[in-house]
Amino acid sequence: MFKDKVVIVTGASRGIGRAIALKFAKLGANIVVNYRNSVEAVEKVKTEIEELGGKALIVQGDVSNFEDAKFIIDRAVEEFGKIDILVNNAGITKDGLLLRMKEDDFDKVINVNLKGAFNCIRHVTPIMMKQRNGKIINISSVIGICGNAGQVNYSAAKAGIIGMTKSTAKELASRGITVNAIAPGYIVTDMTEVLPEKVKKNMESIIPLKRLGKPEDVANLAAFLASDDAAYITGQVINVDGGMVM
Ligand SMILES: NC(=O)c1ccc[n+]([C@@H]2O[C@H](COP(=O)([O-])OP(=O)(O)OC[C@H]3O[C@@H](n4cnc5c(N)ncnc54)[C@H](OP(=O)(O)O)[C@@H]3O)[C@@H](O)[C@H]2O)c1
Repeated sequence: MFKDKVVIVTGASRGIGRAIALKFAKLGANIVVNYRNSVEAVEKVKTEIEELGGKALIVQGDVSNFEDAKFIIDRAVEEFGKIDILVNNAGITKDGLLLRMKEDDFDKVINVNLKGAFNCIRHVTPIMMKQRNGKIINISSVIGICGNAGQVNYSAAKAGIIGMTKSTAKELASRGITVNAIAPGYIVTDMTEVLPEKVKKNMESIIPLKRLGKPEDVANLAAFLASDDAAYITGQVINVDGGMVM
C-alpha cells in the first residue's frame, strides 16, 4: 500500500510513534524515525523496521527546536529524495493542578506538543507543495476536546493542534496536501503507565468498549488517513478512544 513512500514519524522510539512507524513499514514504506533521548529503544525500532523489509533512517532531534526540526526534514530529503507523509506524534506530559503549575511546565508542554508540530509542518510544507502532494497527520488527544483537571498545559497544546490542523488543511488543500488530526483516548504506553492502577481500572469501566487502547489502534487510523482511500478527507479530527468521548 505504501511501497516506496517516505514517512517521517516524530517521537517514534516508543509507544504510539513506534507502532505507527512499524505499521507503515509493514505496508511497504521507508521510515524516518525521530527520537529525542531513547537511543537503545530507537535502535530496536530500526531493526524491527528492517526485519519488515523497510529502510529506516534514525534522526535524533528535539522537535521543539526550530533548527532541529529543519534538520529532521532535511535529512529525510537527503536520504530518500522526498517526503510523502509526516506524522507529528512527539509529545510529553507535565501534569499538575493549575494553582501549582510551574510556568516552565506549561512552556515545555506547549513547546514540544504544539510548537514541535508547527516546526515540522513549517519545514515540510515547501517540500510537499513542490511535490503537489503530501499527507500530514497530527496526534492530538481527547483531552484537547474535553479538557482534564491537572492537564491545563497538555489540553491547551492538544486543542491548539486541532486549530492548527484545520488552518493548515485550508491553506494547503489546493496544493494536494491533506492535514488531519487523530485524538486518542487512553492508550497503554509509557506515558500512561505512570498512572495509578485505580485510575486505570476506573478508565476501563467508563470506556464504552471496556478496554484501554493499544498503540496499534492509533496506528491503524494513521495508515488509513495517509492512504488513497482517505484522499477526500482533510481538516478532520478523529477520535480513537473506545467511545470515551462522543
Ligand atoms: N498514551 C496515551 O494515552 C495518549 C493519548 C492521547 C494522545 N497521546 C499522544 O500521542 C503521542 C505519543 O504518546 P505516547 O503515549 O506514545 O508517549 P510516550 O510513550 O511517552 O512516547 C513519547 C515519544 O515522544 C518522543 N519525544 C518526546 N519529546 C520529544 C521531543 N522534544 N522531540 C522529539 N521526540 C520527543 C519520545 O522520544 P524519547 O523516547 O527519545 O524521549 C518518545 O518517542 C503524544 O503526542 C501524546 O500526547 C497519547
